[in-house]
Amino acid sequence: MNLRIHLFFNLGVTMKNFASDNNAGVHPKIMKRLAEANFEHVIGYGDDIYTEKAIEKFKEVFGKNIEVFFVYNGTGANVTALNSVLQSFQSVITTESSHINVDECGSLENLSGSKIIYIPTKDGKLTIEKIKSVMHGLGDEHHSQPKVISLTQTTELGTVYSAEELKSITDYAHSNNLIVHMDGARISNAAVYLGKNLKEITADVGIDILSFGGTKNGAMFGETVIFFNPKLSINYKYYRKQSAQLHSKMRFIAVQFEELLTDNLWKKNAENANNMAKKLLEKLESLNCIKITQKVQSNGIFAIVPKEVIEDALKKYFFYYWDEDKSEVRFMATFDTSEEDVNNFFSVIKESVEKNNFN
Ligand SMILES: Cc1ncc(COP(=O)(O)O)c(C=O)c1O
Repeated sequence: MNLRIHLFFNLGVTMKNFASDNNAGVHPKIMKRLAEANFEHVIGYGDDIYTEKAIEKFKEVFGKNIEVFFVYNGTGANVTALNSVLQSFQSVITTESSHINVDECGSLENLSGSKIIYIPTKDGKLTIEKIKSVMHGLGDEHHSQPKVISLTQTTELGTVYSAEELKSITDYAHSNNLIVHMDGARISNAAVYLGKNLKEITADVGIDILSFGGTKNGAMFGETVIFFNPKLSINYKYYRKQSAQLHSKMRFIAVQFEELLTDNLWKKNAENANNMAKKLLEKLESLNCIKITQKVQSNGIFAIVPKEVIEDALKKYFFYYWDEDKSEVRFMATFDTSEEDVNNFFSVIKESVEKNNFN
């Protein structure tokens, strides 16, 4: 995807960038909870009251019949979840742009030996037609056997599957003996966009396994693997340990999720990120020389911007080229982006557009 890193050092100036929700800090409420959990000794590896309470919170949100496991990061969540349900002769169907395909350094292939069947898309979304087009060689020993569909919600291109789209894919999957995994690194942003709660776009639409994201939505670190089909989780704990994703001081991941799920902090954070992206979008749309390339349905904006403007803006703000050949960039707002940040960033862009007489 030609996601190129521009090194940017703005020493001495404190400001937020528009590169990634990974670049934001930690929400103060989560920081407080981490400090509060730091006063006593408790048993390690999850056998503690903090982890128990966090799992209870997940059950309040997603329903009682789930299995919950904490891991360190999003790659860990995806690959342990998938590895635990795939055999080496089986494959996972996903999009070409999916994180498991392009941004996980071949972890899944390395750990499981399974094949990734990736499908090109314009908007980062799978459809039943696209999935059907790769359902070949079933029962044929010469072919890797499709076993899992992995969807990303919010997609890597900032777009969002509706609940109906999800349900139709899971119905198709289940009637074809396939498991559905969701990479939900940004699921909170999708829920906010759709005006749904977290259960309505996961358990209720037939998702089997969810990688539930925390880091991009105000946590310090940690993600959660949730099995909505508990039968699939029987061996998961062994895969987690073998993949070095079992955290000994588990309480410090657990309290972050408990806090995110308390008083809708997950929602407030995602709402801010989405709203700030929308504000930036409205401003960018006033500039004729900027072409928005994806529907803005979450906290990411993809746009073709004149090279000169990109280079001027990069002198002051850090963000990523998405596709340098097309002069396409990604701007991302976060839980702590403010209106002032948006205004200041936009004024840098506008100034360059005017200087170059592009409008
Ligand atoms: C769609 C998606 N999934 C998963 C991840 C998690 O990655 P990490 O292993 O860096 O936490 C990311 C991070 O950028 C992502 O964008």
